[in-house]
Amino acid sequence: MYNIPHDSASKHVSGQSIYIDDVLVNSQLLVGRVVYSRFAHAKIKSLDLSKAKLLEGVHAVLCWKDIPGHNEMGPVVHDEPCLAVEEVYCVGQAIVLIAAENEEVAIQAEKLLRIEYEILEPVLDIQTAIQKDSLLAPPRIMQRGDAEVALKNAPHTLKGELETGAQEHWYLETQSCLCIPGEDKEINVFSSTQHPSETQTIVAEVLGISKNEVVVETRRMGGAFGGKETQANHTAAWTALLCYATGRPVKIRLFRDDDQKITGKRHRFLIYYEAGFDENGKLLAVKFELNADAGCTTDLSMAILERAMLHADSSYYVPHMHVTGKAYRTNLPSNTAFRGFGGPQGMAGMETVIDRIARYVKKDPAEIRQLNFYGLDKNNITHYGQEVELNRLHTLYEQLYKSSDYKKRRSEINSFNSANEFFKKGMALTPVKFGISFTTSFLNQAGALINIYKDGTVLVNHGGTEMGQGLHTKIQQIAAAELGVSLDRVKVNATNTSKVPNTSATAASAGTDLNGMAVKNATEKLKLRIAKLMAIEFSKQRPEKPTSAEHILFENSRVVDSLYPDRKIAFDEAMVLCHLNQVSLSATGFYKTPNIGWDKIKGWGKPFNYYAFGMAVSEVLVDTLTGYHRNLRTDILHDVGDSINPGIDLGQVEGGFIQGVGWCTTEEIKWDDQGNLLNHSPDTYKIPSVRDVPEDFRVELLQNVPNPNAVRKSKAVAEPPLMLAFSTWLAIKDAISAVGDHKYEPHFKLPATHEVILLSIEHTRKKMKEGKRS
Ligand code: MTE
Ligand code: HPA
Ligand code: MOS
Repeated sequence: MYNIPHDSASKHVSGQSIYIDDVLVNSQLLVGRVVYSRFAHAKIKSLDLSKAKLLEGVHAVLCWKDIPGHNEMGPVVHDEPCLAVEEVYCVGQAIVLIAAENEEVAIQAEKLLRIEYEILEPVLDIQTAIQKDSLLAPPRIMQRGDAEVALKNAPHTLKGELETGAQEHWYLETQSCLCIPGEDKEINVFSSTQHPSETQTIVAEVLGISKNEVVVETRRMGGAFGGKETQANHTAAWTALLCYATGRPVKIRLFRDDDQKITGKRHRFLIYYEAGFDENGKLLAVKFELNADAGCTTDLSMAILERAMLHADSSYYVPHMHVTGKAYRTNLPSNTAFRGFGGPQGMAGMETVIDRIARYVKKDPAEIRQLNFYGLDKNNITHYGQEVELNRLHTLYEQLYKSSDYKKRRSEINSFNSANEFFKKGMALTPVKFGISFTTSFLNQAGALINIYKDGTVLVNHGGTEMGQGLHTKIQQIAAAELGVSLDRVKVNATNTSKVPNTSATAASAGTDLNGMAVKNATEKLKLRIAKLMAIEFSKQRPEKPTSAEHILFENSRVVDSLYPDRKIAFDEAMVLCHLNQVSLSATGFYKTPNIGWDKIKGWGKPFNYYAFGMAVSEVLVDTLTGYHRNLRTDILHDVGDSINPGIDLGQVEGGFIQGVGWCTTEEIKWDDQGNLLNHSPDTYKIPSVRDVPEDFRVELLQNVPNPNAVRKSKAVAEPPLMLAFSTWLAIKDAISAVGDHKYEPHFKLPATHEVILLSIEHTRKKMKEGKRS
């Protein structure tokens, strides 16, 4: 029962899944269009909408003056204008909205707009932002011990910098929203959002109405990956404004190119590091400075920076650690959540440090990693004070080292590299330790509403959203298991703010942990009510053999008296009895993560409920004449606790890893010197395809590791596997390093595109020549 397919799997492949663009609407539907800035930084000198308004088939043309409520949006800081006022801060910033009979008319209308700009100097990269000191907020610091002194006393030190690149979410369904006007001020919003409650808030604010007049519903998203945690709000607000202005249903579905240009990406980072270590390669002290490109507004940048700082230790114990985090404002679309939420950037810095230390002390990097892993009962406190409990790193290492045949393959790779001049192989083993919980502690809450009907069928509402990760399937499984009924009796409803209010985003990998517990809580309330009634009913049947609620069990779609198991009744019959006896069959559930909390100012405490662990070994082949590489083999062992659904979990591990491979290798984002995105379609932006999947791909879930801290002993899966891709990234570096017989530290960055690889090889060859001359 537990390894069932995703509830929408067959609908997805047969085209029956309903996305925003598939919702049937009446003929009154209008198409919405957003007109955005073509300049990265400019003053708007004048705006003339008059001609566009006169075009036949146009129903509304709006600018900021037409917003009935607040123009200021923004999930944390209200620093995002819904429509630009006097200045634009990035290419893609919305200025005007158009509602028209169809797309063609809307495009025509856009051409009739007259917008005059005065162009200003943009800031387009982190280096310039640092020079101009364009900090978004005061720098943050996390530290333990005295890194400065420990670095001075360390027998060996190294320092350097690492650039990590942006990443486009490339969800298959672009940002989309459909709004349908209701009675009075009511509005129904169908949004492809990870965060219906926040979308509801933003829509209410821009329209100047109250939240109880806005209903947001999300059946599913065609992918999100963090890109719809906050940035679905913009499309929803624009659609709602047009709907209000016209009194008609309005839909906006962004064109792919517009979506890529308008929306924020994974934050680029520029990382400075300095590390001290002993002759064995054991870490003594590390200092990091993490600089993030936030884009033009705050969005979630400070939380993302915080998670990067919290993951700057990767999986390693560093006695003296000092991490500074700075987020800079630039004139690019505001960067946002992306699977891993800063964690990948923070970890990339530390994995680089470890990789360099290994080369320095001339040892296999896997050994240096193992040497520095957090200990089981000592050296197990992170640089922010949380104990690494139930540490699976050592188990994973032992199992994977063996199952991947690491030692033998390492020596085969060495022989291959000695025998081949132009092709080089590389291999790397990398760990993942990822903290599970929103680091903004109050967000760790969830709600549910369960209705049981008289026919014994169950309708589950919860606050989480489905984006392909299989949350609704897992929730269905949890509800069925807790109520002891078969899966076909349980249906999970579209997420709806009128059913479950004030929810958190489905994010931080915590969708099942939080909503699954809230659903469980609701089932417990229902079961207690039903059990109380059934105990009375069973006792009535044989008064000489009374029973009580605690003996009533729910199993195999029956309600059973465990004292006298011959006393049982079918679940649906029990529901009829409940109804006749006036027992409510509807209950809400609630959950908040216990025992977490931390001091953001001091940077100390327990931000996470627990950690997820994983490990990967990847092998690549690099063509040193072209920089082209092939992913030959990847072995993954990942910890998901007692899996609720192994098929779905394996899918998340594989998908996360491949998405990480994209970020680490091919997904380079380029802007021109005016802040225009150069690769805004799939022909120039290279997401992984089937050829990027390792030719030999062996993915396993770690067995017999129940997690006491989450629902049904499971563990979050979603984000952590993305960081397994460092194995591919560093395998490439290992292959480059082989060109110079591992004597020279290769130039490297992330992504390691073919161009980066080729330049790095040339650089190594140059160093070799110089080395020979001297
Ligand atoms: N898987 C699919 N198929 N599509 C997605 O958009 N988003 C990821 C991950 N896996 C995503 C996905 C991100 S960024 C997060 S935080 C989690 O799913 C959210 O869902 P969960 O918390 O229910 O696992
Ligand atoms: N992860 C994902 N999304 C978030 C977080 C987080 O830690 N905090 C706020 N939004
Ligand atoms: Mo995921 S980046 O937390 O939406």
